[in-house]
Amino acid sequence: MHGVGSRNKLRASHARLYPGSGMLDRLGRAICTAECLPRKELHEAWEMATRVRQCFTGGRVVDLCCGYGLLGQVMLLLDDSLTVAIAVDVKVPPNHGLIHQAIAEEFPQLRGRVRFVNAPLQGIDIDADDIVVSAHACGPLSDDVISTGADRHARLAVLPCCHQYRRRADLAGLPDPALAMDIERAVLLRARGYRVWTPSIPVEVSPKNRLLLGAPASRVVVDHDDAAASQVSPSPAWWSQMA
Ligand SMILES: C[S@@+](CC[C@H](N)C(=O)[O-])C[C@H]1O[C@@H](n2cnc3c(N)ncnc32)[C@H](O)[C@@H]1O
Repeated sequence: MHGVGSRNKLRASHARLYPGSGMLDRLGRAICTAECLPRKELHEAWEMATRVRQCFTGGRVVDLCCGYGLLGQVMLLLDDSLTVAIAVDVKVPPNHGLIHQAIAEEFPQLRGRVRFVNAPLQGIDIDADDIVVSAHACGPLSDDVISTGADRHARLAVLPCCHQYRRRADLAGLPDPALAMDIERAVLLRARGYRVWTPSIPVEVSPKNRLLLGAPASRVVVDHDDAAASQVSPSPAWWSQMA
């Protein structure tokens, strides 16, 4: 079984899973040639990037805790108005170049627009015009991503995972302490003047599927705001647990 949430690596023979002419299928076939990316990482990046694209456009995309850096690259493919992707990881995987080359072969517009940085996210320069994205930055790393972006008033998109709530006595007994932690993150961002959206990616792609998107309220323009509100389902179940 090789579903969209599979951790098995995409091999050349899996190109048959991506037969069409749309962008996801072209991307899928390209990545199959590199033979090193777990299938779920392609679909997580795709699902997250398509949702971020509905809310944010323009500027640089800074992919923190990037692994292979696929998220930032998919963002570039989906939005011509993005200038470059900066892909940051404290330990960029050795095969990141294979993946990038394979994608750039199919989508030459990416050439020269993706920079990998082998460094901790905590020292990275972020601008107010950047879109900071991060998929599955484990546990408190997600908080580091959020504070790094929010300190610079950047737009933010985080897909948290590995919530560490065992030492949080105040959350003991709650039906879903991980959800409570994500709500805390959203509330914190609101207190910092952010407008927050909370869509999800499909659970078949990842059970850690809650997305937190935020932008300084002062830079959310009316048309953009309406578009985001209509295209991103705001997951009322999240907010109903805030009280
Ligand atoms: C679970 S992986 C997620 C990778 C990728 N975003 C994805 O969705 O497949 C978490 C990544 O965070 C990186 N990481 C851990 N601590 C970091 C730090 N302080 N700064 C930057 N990256 C870090 C790890 O090397 C690892 O690649």
